[in-house]
Amino acid sequence: MAELPVPGDSRRVAGMFGRVAGSYDLLNHLLSAGLDIAWRRAMVRALLAPGLPPGPVLDLAAGTLDVSVMLSRLGRRAIVAVDPCLPMLQAGRSKIGSGPGAAIHPVLGDGLRLPLPDASVAGATIAFGIRNIRPRPDAFAELARVVKPGGRLVVLEFGTGKRRLWGGLYNFYLRSVLPKIGKLVSGDDEAYLYLAETIREFPDEGTLAEEMRLAGFQEVSYRAMTGGIVFLHAGVKAV
Ligand SMILES: C[S@@+](CC[C@H](N)C(=O)[O-])C[C@H]1O[C@@H](n2cnc3c(N)ncnc32)[C@H](O)[C@@H]1O
Repeated sequence: MAELPVPGDSRRVAGMFGRVAGSYDLLNHLLSAGLDIAWRRAMVRALLAPGLPPGPVLDLAAGTLDVSVMLSRLGRRAIVAVDPCLPMLQAGRSKIGSGPGAAIHPVLGDGLRLPLPDASVAGATIAFGIRNIRPRPDAFAELARVVKPGGRLVVLEFGTGKRRLWGGLYNFYLRSVLPKIGKLVSGDDEAYLYLAETIREFPDEGTLAEEMRLAGFQEVSYRAMTGGIVFLHAGVKAV
């Protein structure tokens, strides 16, 4: 088999997501037994908690726009949805305007070079996206550049699976079950092997929190969801 794409190789990673864009939503719900919806909702609520400054929000690595749509319905603010993969954004287009909510503006772009001015958004979300962007400190620095002082960053990402309670079962699922179901439904084995590999390599929650602090976010906190399968990090851009 050809080598898996390396996180940070934006062109190859986006190409890979492009091949699974049509089955991405179905697989997300299937592989997480529907939990992905609750995980994203918790992240959106954390972003919109009282104290968020006025103004638009950024949904980075927006993919098929599930987070953007939730933000639009719950937050009633304009949303800039940035992703380098056109087929993913296109797969989400039909979700825009299908109900009440604020405007969503999908934009092709890379997390390392955001097409936004300094201090232009009240807050930013990134769900299951930070794993794909390297160097990660540069991605956090770019997010810190565009978020207003006092604004918020929330990050949703899989845990490393190294916790004792879940470790064995979770790793078996990641390495053996998930790539097989992924290939069966999407026809692409690379994308779901890449998912397992990038989750395995991802730093632990404490390291991620420290990276956010170093980029200029304060009051950084995190919490485990579903026994540490997923972590939600939040921080406030220093004033
Ligand atoms: C697993 S999907 C997550 C999509 C969506 N946020 C969700 O919750 O379903 C990861 C997304 O990261 C995007 N991505 C990959 N490299 C990126 C980069 N350098 N900058 C921004 N997004 C990137 C991919 O195109 C893909 O849409």
